[in-house]
Amino acid sequence: MTASKLGWSDVTPKSLFLNRRTLIAGAGAMLAAGPALARIDAAPSVFSTDETPNTFEEITTYNNFYEFGTGKEDPARNAGALTTDPWSIVIDGLVDRPGTYDLADVMKDQPLEERIYRFRCVEAWSMVIPWIGFELAGLLNRVGVQPSAKYVAFETLVRPEEMPGQRQPILEWPYREGLRLDEAMNPLTILATGLYGEEMPKQNGAPIRLVVPWKYGFKSIKSVVRISLVADQPQTTWNMLQPSEYGFFSNVNPQVDHPRWSQASERRIGAGLFAGRQDTLMFNGYEEQVASLYAGMDLVANY
Ligand code: MTE
Repeated sequence: MTASKLGWSDVTPKSLFLNRRTLIAGAGAMLAAGPALARIDAAPSVFSTDETPNTFEEITTYNNFYEFGTGKEDPARNAGALTTDPWSIVIDGLVDRPGTYDLADVMKDQPLEERIYRFRCVEAWSMVIPWIGFELAGLLNRVGVQPSAKYVAFETLVRPEEMPGQRQPILEWPYREGLRLDEAMNPLTILATGLYGEEMPKQNGAPIRLVVPWKYGFKSIKSVVRISLVADQPQTTWNMLQPSEYGFFSNVNPQVDHPRWSQASERRIGAGLFAGRQDTLMFNGYEEQVASLYAGMDLVANY
């Protein structure tokens, strides 16, 4: 991975940047981008890729967020109804300071950075997204992880009144995810509260979601309300639904195919009809940072 100190406005082609500004300023803004989002200042990061980010429109209109429906356009259509303020997160289990933390308290003293990450969905499409967030390790250190904790479990909000997908048994609600503690503590793992210099759009998991860039996108759980430190590997939504297809680890790996499709290549959203597919990278290109976490492990058995 190329270390760079570029911000999204440095790597976004000027035409796209201006186009976005014009849209925001113009009457079309409400349609294209939804309601105005508060701007956030964040420092650039050495972990950012210098690949060109997808446009704001691509990132906010092609989503997976089953609480709002299974179609890619459903979240942008339906997530506006979600109340994200007030928001609190229960932090419990094997921690020194368990409790119900207000969002502002969760974010207190955590330095916000812009992280331009590749994002690879298990469905074999990908994007480049300029997230804003802070390292999960910072929060975990603050609440005090006890030595017996080996995993971190996450849950999304359950609120069927505002989340129409939850009125149907599409998945077992709440949406659940989990990481091994060392994965959670890796500096690449962030809790994201925004993208493109603004607070998180609701369809992308407002007000706070996990981003684990070397794993398939479904690990990056949205709209988090609970973080539990636990001793045993937690249950995770897609693994519960179809264990032969979705493992606990779900590291991006071009050599381990999904039972129903190849993972060797991917379609970059927005690349255009004639761009062709691009090779998928081991650990989504973050091998240097994370390969040591899996030293000696059979990555086929531990998919
Ligand atoms: N989190 C929740 N709560 N519900 C979901 O349906 N979908 C996952 C993940 N997090 C999902 C979720 C999947 S499959 C992907 S690919 C990413 O969110 C999509 O994130 P994006 O829409 O911001 O690109």
